[in-house]
Amino acid sequence: MKFDQNVAAALNQQINNELQASYVYLAMAAYFDASKLPGFAKWFRAHAEEEIDHAMRIYDFIVKRDGAVSLNGVAQPEKTYASPAAALKTALAMEEDVTAQIHKLFELAHDVKEYGTQNMLHWFLEEQIDEEDLFRHLLEQVEAAGDSRWHLLTLDRELAAPAKQ
Ligand SMILES: [Fe+2]
Ligand SMILES: [Fe+2]
Repeated sequence: MKFDQNVAAALNQQINNELQASYVYLAMAAYFDASKLPGFAKWFRAHAEEEIDHAMRIYDFIVKRDGAVSLNGVAQPEKTYASPAAALKTALAMEEDVTAQIHKLFELAHDVKEYGTQNMLHWFLEEQIDEEDLFRHLLEQVEAAGDSRWHLLTLDRELAAPAKQ
């Protein structure tokens, strides 16, 4: 079945959205490194890599459907945040935006009867539930630490542990 061109365009846009998210998380990793919180930095860096994997999943899917991959520019991310909690709030809001993007993509694929694309997107629907849960949980922990540098450092040590990756 011929690949729907509107779906192809929307999937290319989602490659860009995932790479944009990756770039924002890498900037957050740099912010945490500058804030002397290497555990948080490591966590965000790993997450930046995960978003590249998401982009590549869609890239591979487009190629398999004999579509054309078309890469657009990625915007410059924010370099600093008012606090670790502010960074986490931005991250959670971004994940919620990505969830909305995936939902829109799914609706489009549904409308034009792109069943294969819908099937591929099921993975992303599930992933976004995990992503929102993960970021919400970390934000709650950072908010619980409040202004205590000691609590933040304890949390930082936990995030540095391999099991948390
Ligand atoms: Fe993603
Ligand atoms: Fe994500």
